[in-house]
Amino acid sequence: MEALHQAIRERGRVLSEDILKVDNFLNHQIDTQLMAAVGQEFAKRFQDQSVTKVITLESSGIAPSFMAANTLDVPLVFARKKKALTGSEDVYTSRVYSYTKQELNQVIVSKEYLAEGDRVLIIDDFLAHGNAALGLTEVVEEAGATVVGVGAVIEKAFQEGRTQLEMEGYQVESLARIESLSNGEVTFIDEVVTNK
Ligand code: G4P
Repeated sequence: MEALHQAIRERGRVLSEDILKVDNFLNHQIDTQLMAAVGQEFAKRFQDQSVTKVITLESSGIAPSFMAANTLDVPLVFARKKKALTGSEDVYTSRVYSYTKQELNQVIVSKEYLAEGDRVLIIDDFLAHGNAALGLTEVVEEAGATVVGVGAVIEKAFQEGRTQLEMEGYQVESLARIESLSNGEVTFIDEVVTNK
């Protein structure tokens, strides 16, 4: 997706061989026009899957998921990492370990918002090791619902997330696939560019 590649090139910063900072448009400040286009692209890629719900993990997954759900005309559910004060006791849960942040997070979804028969599209901001997406697949399947696929805004293709998800049989669609962050440069799959 060219507009996203351009945002990464012009507004992203390579922090290390593993980490890309995109606070300018995705993880802190949100470029709403870009996120609208991102959401519409996800909706297009999964339009034939009879999606009934989009699910993401708070917080950075919410912005790109919103317009996908809006375009598909289905609800968006965000899984919480902590129980809400007013939350129901009746929840589906899983745990995900973040290699990047080196922390264990819970994934919590109220049983009210996932039902057997739902066809669920999982969307997240980054696909790295795949743990967040796998944690979300667990809660969807615990509910007896079906995962129709996984969408990631930015895939770090040099980490094993896609392989993990494809091995489980899930369709994976990412809108920017990064081959490498070596030497302070972003290299997209099929494209070589220099980062600031
Ligand atoms: P995984 O879910 O694919 O296994 O990824 P991993 O555990 O490695 O990373 C989990 C968290 O780190 C996620 O945020 C993810 O968005 C973020 N992350 C991973 N790689 C990068 C990167 O290169 N740059 C940035 N900016 N973030 C990265 P989270 O814990 O869900 O936090 P939140 O921002 O959604 O609240």
